[in-house]
Amino acid sequence: MSQKITSIRGMNDILPTQTPLWQWLESRVRNLLQSYGYGEIRMPIVEHTELFKRSIGEVTDIVEKEMYTFADRNGDSLTLRPEGTASCVRAAEEHGLLYNQVQRLWYTGPMFRHERPQAGRYRQFHQIGVEAFGMQGPDIDAELILMTARLWRELGISDLVTLELNSLGDSEDRARYRDALVAYLSQHIDALDEDSRRRLEKNPLRILDSKDAGTRAVLQNAPRFDDYLGEQAREHFAGLRQVLDAAGISYRLNSALVRGLDYYGKTVFEWVTDALGAQGTVCAGGRYDGLVSQLGGKPTPAVGFAMGVERLILLLEQRAPELPAPADVYLVSTVAPAAALVLAEELRAALPQLRVQSHCGSGSLKSQMKKADKSGARWALIVGEDELAAGEITLKPLRGDSEQQRIARAALADTLAAQIK
Ligand code: HAM
Repeated sequence: MSQKITSIRGMNDILPTQTPLWQWLESRVRNLLQSYGYGEIRMPIVEHTELFKRSIGEVTDIVEKEMYTFADRNGDSLTLRPEGTASCVRAAEEHGLLYNQVQRLWYTGPMFRHERPQAGRYRQFHQIGVEAFGMQGPDIDAELILMTARLWRELGISDLVTLELNSLGDSEDRARYRDALVAYLSQHIDALDEDSRRRLEKNPLRILDSKDAGTRAVLQNAPRFDDYLGEQAREHFAGLRQVLDAAGISYRLNSALVRGLDYYGKTVFEWVTDALGAQGTVCAGGRYDGLVSQLGGKPTPAVGFAMGVERLILLLEQRAPELPAPADVYLVSTVAPAAALVLAEELRAALPQLRVQSHCGSGSLKSQMKKADKSGARWALIVGEDELAAGEITLKPLRGDSEQQRIARAALADTLAAQIK
């Protein structure tokens, strides 16, 4: 026998038993985003490699080690998107959505990173991302955070997540802080881990979230970002905190929060949980006012975030919200299948919102009823010899303890309509 082909490590199938929870989450998020005035954008999954190098940054884990990059048949270097912000900026700029305009956009779909797979960390994972363009004040940063806080409430997971907040200043603040940090860390270079030593020249801010114990010890006395924030960034951050305080959103200031992508400045934030082990960040983002011009557009203020759908699903599984059953009625028939299928079509025409599952194939009444029960439907509709002769249908409740009843076929749609309201 030939060997079976399996899925790729870290790339998962999402099975019909799992998709109801995904759909429940997705529809709640979609409704929420619509209610805040965000419009959906759909970008391709593959982009020119250069797009990610220039936006995420050459000296980041994503670009250095995690991208799925390949040569197209004509030799172009292409990459499976590791995140959505770069693609969204590229698409918005390419279609003239940014110049002198305000845009509130969102997208969803798979992203690809060659990380070491573990619970909550995959090589193909899904994000729901939000990007807002053309607004430079802190109120839009606050809107994004308030929107996520509302989402957690609607999903019933508010008590599982906390907000961490930091400001990375503007580009001059970062340059001054960078110099101070490099000067300090250079004096302690022997105590730094290898990765941090390598980053010292090219991307020293990333050293701040190193997990290495030796490096962490050195960082204890390192210069603090707060002391290098300029007037503008300070005011922006204060403005954001004022809204969050007024809205009763609690947060933890975390000066080590630098994010793993280079495009951020000013506000950065993460919603974290300790209910998922090591992969605790469920939603993360911040402001990236420099990115549009870095990719060739006019300077455009921008801020956004993305949530990891798999991580949210893991949290929701702990809460097991009640999901709608896959069907309302399951049609059982021991006579010619034509009669049952025609009845199902009649019902669908009369009640478009009714979810009807027909038993296709043979089987005794008993075995069909077992399937009806397993389907999760609320009722079985039985079409047997007797029913057919009498022009009636048997309606048997599958949940609760009400009695089964025989109903004239002509009255069936009205009876069901009254029940599914
Ligand atoms: P990120 O922090 O790289 O940011 O990813 C956002 C979220 O995606 C993470 O917080 C996590 O929930 C999820 N995630 C990331 N990697 C994985 C993985 N390997 N497996 C499962 N989930 C994962 C960004 O991607 C930015 N584009 C966010 C953003 C949008 N900033 C501004 N706008």
